This record gives sequence, C-alpha cells and structure tokens, in this order.
Amino acid sequence: MLTLDSSALLQEAAALLRQQGQLLHSRTLAGQTRAKGKTDFVTAVDTRVQENIRMALEQLTPGAALMAEEKDNAAVDLNGAVWVLDPVDGTTNLIHGFRHSAISLALAVEGRVELGLIYDPYADELFTARRGKGAFCNGEPIHVSGAAALADSLCSVGTNPGCRDQADAAFARMRRIYDRCHDVRRVGAASIELCYVACGRLDAYLEHGLKPWDYAAGMLIVAEAGGRVTDFAGDAPLLDASRCAILATNGQIHSELQSLL
Ligand code: IPD
Ligand code: CA
Ligand code: CA
Repeated sequence: MLTLDSSALLQEAAALLRQQGQLLHSRTLAGQTRAKGKTDFVTAVDTRVQENIRMALEQLTPGAALMAEEKDNAAVDLNGAVWVLDPVDGTTNLIHGFRHSAISLALAVEGRVELGLIYDPYADELFTARRGKGAFCNGEPIHVSGAAALADSLCSVGTNPGCRDQADAAFARMRRIYDRCHDVRRVGAASIELCYVACGRLDAYLEHGLKPWDYAAGMLIVAEAGGRVTDFAGDAPLLDASRCAILATNGQIHSELQSLL
C-alpha cells in the first residue's frame, strides 16, 4: 500500500513537521483555546496543525489511516498502515508560553511503529528514528546515557493532569524516585521527555495514563537510541491501549526503577 520507502517517507514527514512547527510560534493561534475538560485544552494551533498534516499525509500515503488526538479514532484499523499524530504535545505549555511543546508523528504497520519523528520548534530539534536504523537529532546519531544506577540519574516524572484520581499514587511514586536519584524533572510534554531519554539528557522518564499519540514516535526513538520502553508492568506498550503507563529508560536502570512503581 505504501509506495515510498521508509527513508523517503521519513524525509517527507520531516519536512512537513519542520514546516508545521512554525505554527507553534503563533501566540495569536495559541490564544484561541477551548476546554475539552477541566485541565485538558485544545488551541487553534492543535486543530490547524492536525488538519494541515492530515491533508499532506493523505497525498503522501493514500490509503494509510490517521490516528490523531483531535479526531474520532473509532474506525482506525491498526492492522494496516496508520499514522499516529499528536499535533501539539504540550498544549498546556503552549497556552502558557512555556516553550516546551512538539509535534509527534509515527507510522505504525500492523501495530508496530516503523518511523518516529518529534519536532520541537523552540529548540529547532527534530528527533527521528526508523526501525533498525538508529535514532537521530537534526541528523546526528543519538544514544541513551550510560548511568548504571538510579543513584547517578536524573529522572523525569510525569504528573498527568488528566488523571487526577491517580495523583496520590503518582506523587508517592515521584517521592520514592526522588529519594533515590540526583533529582526529578517535569517538562510537560511526553514526547520531548522521551527524546531527552533517547539523547541522554534524562536517564529515565515515566508517566501513567498516556495515550498512543503521546508515546508512539518517542518509544521507537528511545529504543533505536539503545534504551528500553515498557509499561509499568514491564510489557511492550500497545498502540490500541486507551491509556498506558510508560517507563522509558537508558535500559541499565530499568529494573531498578520498575521495582519502585
Ligand atoms: C500531554 C502532555 C503532558 C502529559 C499528558 C499529555 P497534550 O499531552 O504530554 O506532559 O502529562 O498526559 O496528555 O495533551 O499536551 O497533547
Ligand atoms: Ca500529548
Ligand atoms: Ca496534544
């Protein structure tokens, strides 16, 4: 069904993300917000980026499906080729002008991610991976950190504002980790936190209640950079899970962290 090879597809998708990433600089569009829930927002940047990318992908790969945050995904069949898109990961950051948001795009075939791209327009960093071909930031190879113990690590712990019923457990988990590592961080954009694990700025990132578009691209980028991504139970994250607790590490501290979850 896909006529372009994965290298050509990655190049086309990369150009698309760099182009659409410019919309994240618009404070006018970021100011046009609508609440989907008490702490869950969508801006005109989200809807415009999604629509532009949807139209471009339809031209690029006719027949491939699209799973994306700001649309109904009930008809998406994961057995075929599916683009998985988060048009703005870090919408709350975007609204507040806290310059850490990204576009995240993955291509999955039969439920397995083959391509992953995450573009942070503020840092002008494009993270990419193709299955079996390594991970890159702006074309340069990246690798996870060499931290061998939690005691030597910097960990990002997500608070997931959409799952407040799990806040007590999440903050207790954060405290257990904080007590055992250099410090904890929180960027507020799952995709960027996964990229930071991939390039060694963080040794680990974990968060409960994520959706497939938060982690589809990032989990391939981490894996191709030599790291490990599982759910909290140690199983491979699925794209059809409605919510998934994600643990991404440099591999070396994975089991030590998992035992604290
Ligand atoms: C959110 C961000 C945030 C995470 C939430 C996600 P959104 O994505 O990744 O860091 O805590 O769980 O939903 O809503 O900005 O696309
Ligand atoms: Ca997201
Ligand atoms: Ca989003």
